[in-house]
Amino acid sequence: MISRESAYELVEKNLGSRNLVKHVIATEAVMRALAYRLEQDGDVWAMAGLLHDLDYETTKDRFEDHALKTVEMLKDEDVSDEIKDAILAHCNRKNREKLIEKAIYAADPVTGFIVAAVLIRKGTKLSDIDVEFLINRFKEKSFARGASREQMESCEELGLSLEEFLSLSLEAMKGISTELGL
Ligand SMILES: [Fe+2]
Repeated sequence: MISRESAYELVEKNLGSRNLVKHVIATEAVMRALAYRLEQDGDVWAMAGLLHDLDYETTKDRFEDHALKTVEMLKDEDVSDEIKDAILAHCNRKNREKLIEKAIYAADPVTGFIVAAVLIRKGTKLSDIDVEFLINRFKEKSFARGASREQMESCEELGLSLEEFLSLSLEAMKGISTELGL
């Protein structure tokens, strides 16, 4: 499998936006935590998270190519079909079958949702928020509208309650709070 270092170089080369880089490293952390919880391969799941939006800036105006283009960009890299399928599944380019595919579908919106929850109040940090706070924001339809509730709730396909999923995601992001600047 491609090294984490080479994968991160690809991310830096292709994603100019710092927020997008933070989004993919947060997704990487959440995917690793989900893998550990579900006794799966943490390195593989984390790699899918890190690479899943590699084409984001090149497909901004052609959303129908999103993820398909990423798979194409990875064709000469040592990236397994399992990871490529997960990348395709994160935005419904492929049906969710394997656990990793279900995990990335739920993990993708949760990172932005948690970032939005931290940014509500100036001076708040990741370490200041807890799962109850996230559950309450989750119920507010107008809060972070772009973060799909349906996608996050699909954590149930992994056998996880929403509360456990949000809690695990929050803890994973707290673990990289310095990198996230939160
Ligand atoms: Fe994403």
